[in-house]
Amino acid sequence: MKNNGDTVMKSTDNLGEREETRLFVLQIVCSWYIPLLLLLCCAHITFVVADGQDRSECTPSHFDVILNCSERNLLEIPDIGPEIDRRSVVLLLLEGNNISKIEARSLSGFDNLEELYLGGNDIRYLENGTFREVPRLKLLDIQNSKLFAIESGAFGGLEILEEIFLGFNTINFLPDGIFAGMFRLEVIQVRSNPLRDRSVSENTFRNLTSLRVIDMSETWLTTLPIDLFQDCTNLQNVIFHNTLLISVNMIHWPIAPYKIVDFRYSPVVNITNVPREVTILKASLRALQCTCENERAILLVLAGQNISSHCQNLRCNIPTDENVVTAVAPHHMSPEPDSTYSTSDSVYSRNHMQLYFLLVIAFTSVFAVGL
Ligand SMILES: *[C@@H]1O[C@H](CO)[C@@H](O)[C@H](O)[C@H]1NC(C)=O
Ligand SMILES: *[C@@H]1O[C@H](CO)[C@@H](O)[C@H](O)[C@H]1NC(C)=O
Ligand SMILES: *[C@@H]1O[C@H](CO)[C@@H](O)[C@H](O)[C@H]1NC(C)=O
Ligand SMILES: *[C@@H]1O[C@H](CO)[C@@H](O)[C@H](O)[C@H]1NC(C)=O
Ligand SMILES: *[C@@H]1O[C@H](CO)[C@@H](O)[C@H](O)[C@H]1NC(C)=O
Ligand SMILES: *[C@@H]1O[C@H](CO)[C@@H](O)[C@H](O)[C@H]1NC(C)=O
Repeated sequence: MKNNGDTVMKSTDNLGEREETRLFVLQIVCSWYIPLLLLLCCAHITFVVADGQDRSECTPSHFDVILNCSERNLLEIPDIGPEIDRRSVVLLLLEGNNISKIEARSLSGFDNLEELYLGGNDIRYLENGTFREVPRLKLLDIQNSKLFAIESGAFGGLEILEEIFLGFNTINFLPDGIFAGMFRLEVIQVRSNPLRDRSVSENTFRNLTSLRVIDMSETWLTTLPIDLFQDCTNLQNVIFHNTLLISVNMIHWPIAPYKIVDFRYSPVVNITNVPREVTILKASLRALQCTCENERAILLVLAGQNISSHCQNLRCNIPTDENVVTAVAPHHMSPEPDSTYSTSDSVYSRNHMQLYFLLVIAFTSVFAVGL
């Protein structure tokens, strides 16, 4: 009897344990598997590109907000099938393919597209109206794509574009009007392109009152049109390092909240008429000639140090203003302009943060329901 009772006790124990285990498993199933399955369903709806044997596929994620077509050996922008609602795509990744031409119609339907990444392709030429179907674009990245020629109307219709990245191409000319009508443009990066003196004119950046960052480093410019920045009243980072600039006259540079003006590793001997608003100027002291025309530039580069340590016999009559005298010492300066410049990443990660936040909320609600 005792034994029997023990067995009964044992089996009830076992029963309890099994019940608990079952509950535990159920809990796990509810809290992890269902959302996981949902995620897999959402994330792995792939589709075959109409491009016959290429069988390339793009991967939608974050409920179709991001469409990843990067590194898929695409020769053109794929024909997105009906599985994807083009209107929900905000971020389209097409990097690292072999795309050689962008047909305007291949972007039609992406009515809410805000960021388009086309870097690492073979896009040599952009013709008028290429982006007319995606007027809500805020960021366009065509870096490192063998880009050579851009028609003046290529970016027509991109009226709310904020950032454009054209670096590491072979662009040798920026036609007048290329940025016309882009009143919200804040960042232009054309770094590392064979731009020469005739490649830009005083009209290239006309009317760009929102322009905050201009990066023309690693170009072949030896001089700048005197009116190049005349309308750019919001300039903060002006980056011309590693150019062939010899002389810069900033007399017509507008009043702007300059943070950094960077001419490092450029052979500038002469930087004249530096606006009072410029407080950080980076240039090679060894190149800058000890002339009174250069006094302010030298003082800024020296950042508060005694000018006579660099230019022993320089005696200028021009009174130095407070900006120069109180300029911060070099070790207090922000070390690299690049940190202030990496706005592309910020937008990218900002979007990602938003998306992950949404996902977390979605999952939490699924957990709640599951439990
Ligand atoms: C897009 O797809 C490529 C190729 O599969 C992958 O290497 C890359 O990490 C993906 N990018 C994002 C942002 O998911
Ligand atoms: C893409 O271009 C690269 C370099 O030009 C080449 O090596 C590769 O074979 C091309 N891929 C396809 C699928 O055409
Ligand atoms: C492209 O557009 C510009 C104006 O935006 C115009 O001057 C030019 O003639 C156009 N080129 C062609 C080939 O249509
Ligand atoms: C600048 O804007 C004004 C007023 O909108 C316009 O008349 C002018 O043509 C624009 N200039 C350039 C070079 O885009
Ligand atoms: C420096 O620039 C000014 C104004 O552009 C010019 O008048 C002057 O000759 C230049 N000086 C040198 C040494 O290049
Ligand atoms: C700068 O150095 C010179 C010579 O060494 C000296 O006469 C002058 O007072 C110094 N000026 C300041 C502001 O320290």
